[in-house]
Amino acid sequence: MTESLQKDQKMPLVLVQGASRGIGLAFVRTLIKRDPQSRVIATCRAPDSSDELQSLAASYPERVVIKRLDVTEVDSIALTSEYVQQHEGALDVLINSAGILHDADGLSPEKRLQDVSAEKLEKYFWVNSIGPLLVAKYFAPLMKKRKRAVIANLSARVGSIGDNRLGGWYGYRASKSAQNMFTRTLSIEMARTHPEMICVGLHPGTVATGLSQRFSSRINPEQIFSPALAAEQLLAVIDGLTPSDSGKVFAYDGSVVPW
Ligand SMILES: NC(=O)c1ccc[n+]([C@@H]2O[C@H](COP(=O)([O-])OP(=O)(O)OC[C@H]3O[C@@H](n4cnc5c(N)ncnc54)[C@H](OP(=O)(O)O)[C@@H]3O)[C@@H](O)[C@H]2O)c1
Repeated sequence: MTESLQKDQKMPLVLVQGASRGIGLAFVRTLIKRDPQSRVIATCRAPDSSDELQSLAASYPERVVIKRLDVTEVDSIALTSEYVQQHEGALDVLINSAGILHDADGLSPEKRLQDVSAEKLEKYFWVNSIGPLLVAKYFAPLMKKRKRAVIANLSARVGSIGDNRLGGWYGYRASKSAQNMFTRTLSIEMARTHPEMICVGLHPGTVATGLSQRFSSRINPEQIFSPALAAEQLLAVIDGLTPSDSGKVFAYDGSVVPW
């Protein structure tokens, strides 16, 4: 693994947070293949066991560097931000992809009120809302200031309050709603000092990853995207954003997701 990336400030610099697998890994792969000029800082919480990411970094040693970052460990966010500041330069794009819906320790989306627990809610909020905001806290000062720069947080349509007709999934829904509010609030603050900065939420659609696998059996397979297609679609949305879009949540097709 290289210690730092090729030093060419003209090459766009993108940080993908949550890049070990799923959509985050697909972002790294797509960026490298689609934009031969781009350099990617890929962060994940367990670099040594992220085999696919490691092999991508080994194939493109001057364009992909892997750093450890767990959104629930503030020190790891701070350390990676120090590394970027000292070794890589200003970021063009920051993508917060990490998210949690279920885990191996028994976390599962609540079907009813009696399934709710403080411990589960805390987990959802840490990974899906507090984490992306803390990452923005440490990395916003490292974004390009006088040029276009984008902070994109992976949200979910189920975080839309107006669109909630089915209920359930208290923690996941509310943590994505909170993330949307953080994104909006951040966009207002950033507009004062970084007029070219765009802060948005992104809904990827239903994507065939570990996150959705258990819950997508009732969805028409034609409406389930591969991670590669999801990354491609979301990067096209990012490419088309202007500062007037800041603070909104966009779906994979470029439409605005209602609050
Ligand atoms: N898939 C869908 O259908 C869908 C739909 C709507 C929204 N989304 C959103 O899209 C984003 C990506 O989802 P995905 O489908 O790619 O999920 P995934 O395949 O389950 O991947 C989740 C990623 O989050 C990382 N992660 C979890 N906890 C973390 C922590 N504490 N610190 C840092 N990273 C952490 C995981 O790392 P480890 O490998 O270390 O566990 C993994 O890289 C999420 O925000 C999700 O809510 C997905």
